[in-house]
Amino acid sequence: MSIISIIGSGDMAAAIAGLAVKAGHAIEVAARDTAKTRTLVDGLGAGATAAGFGAVPAGDMVILAVPYSAVLDVVKQYGEALAGKLLIDITNPIKSDFTGFLTPENSFGAQEIAKVAPANAVIVKAFNTQNARVLAAGPVEGRQLDVFIAGDDAQAKARVSAFIKSLGLRPMDAGKLFMAWTLEHACMLWLGLMTHSVKHGNFSIGVNLPG
Ligand SMILES: NC(=O)c1ccc[n+]([C@@H]2O[C@H](COP(=O)([O-])OP(=O)(O)OC[C@H]3O[C@@H](n4cnc5c(N)ncnc54)[C@H](OP(=O)(O)O)[C@@H]3O)[C@@H](O)[C@H]2O)c1
Repeated sequence: MSIISIIGSGDMAAAIAGLAVKAGHAIEVAARDTAKTRTLVDGLGAGATAAGFGAVPAGDMVILAVPYSAVLDVVKQYGEALAGKLLIDITNPIKSDFTGFLTPENSFGAQEIAKVAPANAVIVKAFNTQNARVLAAGPVEGRQLDVFIAGDDAQAKARVSAFIKSLGLRPMDAGKLFMAWTLEHACMLWLGLMTHSVKHGNFSIGVNLPG
């Protein structure tokens, strides 16, 4: 299987990398904290390697697993190192007090990333509505977790969907990249439910198909 690169070594990087290594993917992790990156990679075992932060990622698919507040600078810093890459945007541009979004009015995170990424990079929104702990725990009672995706490039979405499926998750295509706006708001829905009704983070939003 081809190498999947992940920028960031936090909770989401660990959750996705853990599932990916289990599924037989080769994973490359690059993050600014080399000691933390090494700890994550060592914990993942064979199949995971560390890469230099800012260096050209080995994978054609690159998961942007840093906070939205950092991602635009990180993508700018990588610059042409991300040329031609399929960038998987998992970020949620939500204010830390959950009162609104960090994005300019009439825009959304994936679109802001597309503005600073190399012109020939392709952006697919994915994973942003799944909580890292729930994701890491995997399917419950055989029910697959839904990973919503959005993007303009059908071929790129097919590749991301295949990757998601290989992790034992169910890809749910929500449409073109403008639907990333909706997926970013869906994270706000998750936060609202967590705060007001569920009262903990151990849940997932998904699609129920009756019958
Ligand atoms: N956690 C979730 O359940 C969840 C669910 C869906 C989507 N997401 C999204 O996934 C992304 C990652 O979330 P996370 O929970 O994995 O975050 P996290 O545990 O805080 O990890 C964030 C990673 O980004 C790095 N980072 C932070 N600021 C940076 C900067 N200015 N330059 C370079 N690297 C920087 C951190 O490095 P250091 O270790 O050096 O600080 C760390 O490796 C976020 O955009 C978040 O909105 C999270």
